Amino acid sequence: MLHDFLHLKAPGHWINDPNGFIYYKGRYHLFYQHFPYLPRWGTMHWGHAVSDDLVHWEHRDIALYPSKAYDRNGVFSGSAVEVDGALYLYYTAIRYDEENPDNIHRALDNRFKASQALVISPDGVTFDNLDAKRQVLPVPAAPEAGDPQNTRDPKVWRAADGSFRMVLGSTRDGVGQLLFYRSADGLTWTCAGRFGDSALGTTLECPDLFCLDGRWVLLGSPMGITADGLQYPDQSTWMPVDFDETTCRLALQGAPAMVDWGLDLYAPQTTLDEAGHRVLIGWMRMPRPVEDAPDGRAPWRGMMSLPRLVEWRDGHLCFPVHPHVTACFTQPAEGLAPLAEHKPVRLQGTLRSGQTWNVGGYRLWMEGGCLCTDRSAVLDGLPGYRLTARTPALGQDACDLDIFVTDHLVEIFLDGGRYVLSHVVFGLDETLEGDFDTVTTARA
Ligand code: FRU
Repeated sequence: MLHDFLHLKAPGHWINDPNGFIYYKGRYHLFYQHFPYLPRWGTMHWGHAVSDDLVHWEHRDIALYPSKAYDRNGVFSGSAVEVDGALYLYYTAIRYDEENPDNIHRALDNRFKASQALVISPDGVTFDNLDAKRQVLPVPAAPEAGDPQNTRDPKVWRAADGSFRMVLGSTRDGVGQLLFYRSADGLTWTCAGRFGDSALGTTLECPDLFCLDGRWVLLGSPMGITADGLQYPDQSTWMPVDFDETTCRLALQGAPAMVDWGLDLYAPQTTLDEAGHRVLIGWMRMPRPVEDAPDGRAPWRGMMSLPRLVEWRDGHLCFPVHPHVTACFTQPAEGLAPLAEHKPVRLQGTLRSGQTWNVGGYRLWMEGGCLCTDRSAVLDGLPGYRLTARTPALGQDACDLDIFVTDHLVEIFLDGGRYVLSHVVFGLDETLEGDFDTVTTARA
């Protein structure tokens, strides 16, 4: 059986968004968008992995796959809820207007129709794609009901009174929208309102709406918000919102901010962990596949971020690394080159203005009161990708950094998760230069 440690990676071929993230019957289940034939996007399936602790992942068979006329071209993103002991998996069912005759895994002229569907699993182990699958919302027939193509990514939750709510991402007249539905049983749904705003980009993908310590948060992935010609134009943001769960009325309460300032993370999803804390995992977009996996898996492209808690601090949403991750880094690094051993490395220390740290060729420094990073030396030869990143101004000229490094990912938690900046990398070397207080490694 294939295992991953710390980051869930594609078991081979392609993954994108996390789906159906849930703590269910004592284990974490993480499903994900998966194309099982090549390391590039195509007809979507839901891959599946389980974990006891969010850091040791066990790959399972593909859970959801196209099997009905309405989803014959893809099982797009969605979410999970537990209902009377069963696992309900909601997703967007895709049907192309016409298949591209040269590649049936893509739609001709990118035209398709979307409806919303459900698979009920009795146990999180068996997924009957024939008899336990049903459509719960048809393709929108009128503009008021949503865009027939770009309405997707159902996030379903139980309201305070036990009934169900669903939020979908959509678009209208080029402006991102949220569509709300309610249901008494999770099976029959009625429209409960909509909300549109340019802060939701041209189309909103993967909305996630939750109440944290009495204040509502909208997480979402608005398309086209960094349209400067560099990959990637679509980014994940959080916003404080006012939301009434009974009427589904929503109002923005502040400006959007990035979930991760490296701008590689996309389509994050949250759930509650076993302690009742909100935890987030996002998709780390990779510009090319990894060909030479040491565990022999097929070329793989795409992985999940480390699990991060979601917490308010002084009106600001923070994303500290999950304590199950830090608990793994118990071994002081021996020798001078822990990166050369390809083990996960954790670096902690205070970065001050005037210093530049070098982590395997990845550079970090402070400038204009911001943390700045540059991955030019470790994302070589890939034109069109953003190489540098910075946080917003910190109002200080030093910051505490907690950096997690694995072969293809650097994740930087600043001041305990006040800001997080993560970058996909290729070809880190063994350089380690910086004012680190501690350097530790982890063993699976
Ligand atoms: C976001 C997204 C979702 C969609 C899925 C398709 O990355 O475009 O909106 O459901 O990926 O794979």
